[in-house]
Amino acid sequence: MLKAFTKTLVFLAVSVAAVAQPSLVKFDAAAKVFRLDGGGSSYVFGVNARGELQQLYWGGRLGAADSFGQAQPMKEWASFDSSYSNTPQEYAGWGAGLFVEPALKVTFGDGNRGLVLHYVSHTTVANGFDVELKDIARPIHVTLHYTIDPGSGVLARSASIENRGATAVTVEQAAAAAWALPAGQYTLNYLTGRWAGEWTLNQEAVQAGERVLESRRGSTGHQANPWFALQAGAADEDHGEVWFGALAWSGSWRITVEQDQLDAVRVTGGFNPFDFGFVLRPGQRLETPVFYGGYSAHGLGGASRLLHRFELERILPHAAAKEAAGSAPQVAAQTPRPRPVIYNSWEATEFKVDEPGQVALAEKAAALGVDRFVMDDGWFGQRKDDHAGLGDWYVNKEKFPNGLKPLIDKVHGLGMDFGLWVEPEMVNPNSDLYRNHPDWVLYFPQRPRVEQRNQLVLNLARPDVRAYILGFLDKLLTENDIAFLKWDYNRNWTEPGWDQMAPAEQKRVYVDYTRNLYAILAELRKKHPKVEIESCSGGGGRVDLGILRYVDEVWPSDNTDPFDRLMMQDGFTYAYTPQVMMAWVTDSPHWFNKRTTSLAYRMLSSMQGSLGIGANITKWSEEESATAKRLIAAYKQVQPTIVQGDLYRLISPRDGSEFSVTETVRSDKSQGVVFAFIHSTQKGRGFPLLKLKGLDAKAEYTLSSIEGKAKAGTPETASGAWWMNHGLEMDEGFHGDYQAAAFRLDRK
Ligand code: DGJ
Repeated sequence: MLKAFTKTLVFLAVSVAAVAQPSLVKFDAAAKVFRLDGGGSSYVFGVNARGELQQLYWGGRLGAADSFGQAQPMKEWASFDSSYSNTPQEYAGWGAGLFVEPALKVTFGDGNRGLVLHYVSHTTVANGFDVELKDIARPIHVTLHYTIDPGSGVLARSASIENRGATAVTVEQAAAAAWALPAGQYTLNYLTGRWAGEWTLNQEAVQAGERVLESRRGSTGHQANPWFALQAGAADEDHGEVWFGALAWSGSWRITVEQDQLDAVRVTGGFNPFDFGFVLRPGQRLETPVFYGGYSAHGLGGASRLLHRFELERILPHAAAKEAAGSAPQVAAQTPRPRPVIYNSWEATEFKVDEPGQVALAEKAAALGVDRFVMDDGWFGQRKDDHAGLGDWYVNKEKFPNGLKPLIDKVHGLGMDFGLWVEPEMVNPNSDLYRNHPDWVLYFPQRPRVEQRNQLVLNLARPDVRAYILGFLDKLLTENDIAFLKWDYNRNWTEPGWDQMAPAEQKRVYVDYTRNLYAILAELRKKHPKVEIESCSGGGGRVDLGILRYVDEVWPSDNTDPFDRLMMQDGFTYAYTPQVMMAWVTDSPHWFNKRTTSLAYRMLSSMQGSLGIGANITKWSEEESATAKRLIAAYKQVQPTIVQGDLYRLISPRDGSEFSVTETVRSDKSQGVVFAFIHSTQKGRGFPLLKLKGLDAKAEYTLSSIEGKAKAGTPETASGAWWMNHGLEMDEGFHGDYQAAAFRLDRK
């Protein structure tokens, strides 16, 4: 074990050395131009002749000595199209004839709504700048924070908006950042879905007007995810220029992609302005979320590889170079450990959990090689189904007469650690908590309280609710030896009222709720540093770079059908690293689609991410158990490559594809892993030749099978050049419905 761990660290050190390039931030005082360089990209903006902050360049890395003159505002196109609107401003206030999306819109106490932000000063920070702007007449100050990650070139941008005046100001719209691209032809990529159908990648030509991606639901949402990628012209999976971004916010959010009348493109993202209104009293400040943005010259695949590395090295808990409050410290990057292989009880037992049933599952899970046993919903309060119990976080004595300890001890005795399901932000009206505190939920007085899944949302913005949630979780973790929390969240907001606040202040619930959620997670992690957390929201309803700073993994979907998962995993990994993508193997025929698949197919589908088992394993045959045990052991040997390597999508399962293939390569190129799936062979067609990618052409790699066979006569060992140019051929018998194979290539 220790040996394997040491090996992982060595791999990480090499990978970092290979990726990191020196970053550079420079201010040219004469031209008033700011420049940030990192990885393969440069970002340049300046103070224009009118005093606005104007974007000058975002793209491939420029020569160190290249320089820009002072930014010149764009011309007025006609009396209908002001220069103020046409100029690609970094952070435009609504005023002075701005017809495109403003970054900031306010109403002053006297009803005045004009806002024009000009440069005041700046400071240089680690890997970036803080640039201060101020309205031309009134004391509204905005500090724009910029940092660039030296390795990936991913920029972090956010804004602090401060009222230094003597009267209150209401912020009605506040973006984290606006990104500008020059006039051109672009394809927009974005992710949409629904419950049990998340992570659909949409690709469409950017047209004149505005495309709105958003959630008005109080949380990130299944329906759209705060990520985008814009491909220039003919760029594809492997080639061409791609600009991408992801918003780090788990509350209501909005990203607009706008092509103006001069064909220039702007992407503006931050708090959702729908129903928004944040009052800044004198001296108060509003911090926006962070909007990350990056550039790749290597297509959508290159963009997702950069984003994965950035998430692993800068965002996730245990990433040593994790950003602190928006500024990236100059620390060598280190990635979090691969996830333990888990067992989860939900699909096996639903709410019917009890000690003997969980012990039986745990014994079977341990025999398969599982590392972590997770008991899901049903263990607390009067929870027999989804009608009661949420909010009452005491152990149900009928199900666990002696508390959780006997089960936890048993799980530990079997060599696994123990995880537990919680849904801290919710309450069933049928609970002691609600009977005692009916005012603790989000509601509008004298209006119906709309229930979803028989539950209401606790108003986490309230200090007493925040203290209650932190208190019970802290107690649970202090009194029980729990290594992991699956943190669920099973509905969206309705009636988002907060009537303890003055009417004008009630809408700050959109900000304070999410900030308190982050604060609770941060506090718990501080008090219980060994505890790991999964973000689940009825599947993938709360996955974003905001929550990923506080959680180790996410539950991408309640739909565990292995074929649907191929598609979802394809979409998911455009934005998020396979490290956080939990994937359980469940029973067949599948409860949702009623599809029947072999255990090997189900295992290989889940092995593309962080593997878990969610089936009723007490019913598995000896043969099934042996297959699972063998594949779990094989998975553990190559897991770091799969979840933290460079991902190449060789054949996408999208658009009715007959096949699907991924390849991941360790960053030091010492190992590659290939997964190949057949949906349904048609007209006897053979499996396509797989020209691998990302290997070291000069190194020798040995091919071994994890599952399935290569074509007879395939060399056992050949150069990277051979595997990439000649390619890997599958066995001629690899035909049929729902077939799967996997191979590893190890550098000699
Ligand atoms: C929704 C989750 O996504 C499921 O995995 C399960 O935990 C249920 N909630 C439990 O109520």
